[in-house]
Amino acid sequence: MPFPQTRLRRLRATRALRGLVRETRLTAADLVYPMFVAHGVDRREPIDAMPGVDRLSIAHAVAEAGAAEELGVGAVLLFGIPAAKDEEGSGAWDDEGVVQLATRAIKDAHPELIVIADLCLCEYTSHGHCGVLRPDGTVENDATLELLARTAISQARAGADMLAPSDMMDGRVGAIRAALDEDGYAEKPILAYSAKFASAFYGPFREAAGSAPAFGDRRGYQMDPANGNEALREARLDVEEGADIVMVKPALAYLDLIRRIKDETAMPVAAYNVSGEYAMVKAAAAAGALDERAAVLETLTCIRRAGADIVITYHAKDAARWLQ
Ligand code: PBG
Repeated sequence: MPFPQTRLRRLRATRALRGLVRETRLTAADLVYPMFVAHGVDRREPIDAMPGVDRLSIAHAVAEAGAAEELGVGAVLLFGIPAAKDEEGSGAWDDEGVVQLATRAIKDAHPELIVIADLCLCEYTSHGHCGVLRPDGTVENDATLELLARTAISQARAGADMLAPSDMMDGRVGAIRAALDEDGYAEKPILAYSAKFASAFYGPFREAAGSAPAFGDRRGYQMDPANGNEALREARLDVEEGADIVMVKPALAYLDLIRRIKDETAMPVAAYNVSGEYAMVKAAAAAGALDERAAVLETLTCIRRAGADIVITYHAKDAARWLQ
């Protein structure tokens, strides 16, 4: 009778054997590539903390989306950098807004590529918060729902295949679902940022989108990183309100919640490998401390192993290339 250790190691002997018994597969089709689309012509502006990610004017975004599609990436997720911001964030629901224009242009050029529109006001508000402000500076939940629903309709009209509310207002999935159904978009799925934590790992994104709150923070609507049961309650509510896919964000410090939400909701689950997680790997690789390719593929595989069907990651194009 061999030692049990030997029994476990027997299947690790060759690459082919390891492949045969691998429990988790990572493919390009599982990945969603986030892009920052900006107003302007011929603009490709690097983001300091995110080497390899740029703010792109529409023609560049169309080319970049095409490159992602070519590599087999499952979808792109669009964030808008508007020309101007205001109190309410009206750029979000402008039919000629930057995400709407980019969506139309990308769908025209690449009709098969899935385009997901991020649905939030913070990139469009002058104060950087994700909703309408009361005089005391707190966000007014119910007044915000109306603006989010308007934004969803405008994005659906532009041709977005899926809407992804990232604001964390209570009741927004239901409000958006109702508005979409009423306006003839009953077939558009909702990818809900269900368990979105008030995280330090969004720093580079806020630099990219110029969406850092002008005062205060987002702890009034995003979740406390210490809370796991609450994440489940959030996910269940979103499912009840009509979410088609639920998301956990960020990914790496929250792998336990990806697993719990997957097990307990049995819904398709997405995980967002956020800007700060990307920046850490890039910085460590640039310093010679990490093998970037190995670190990225390990990270993305393990997010899948934790229970994510879909991984949203700025590494999507690189990973897709490495997986070929
Ligand atoms: C906005 C939004 C944020 C991210 C996606 N949508 C930032 C925030 O809450 O400030 C972060 C994504 C990332 O860090 O990559 N609601």
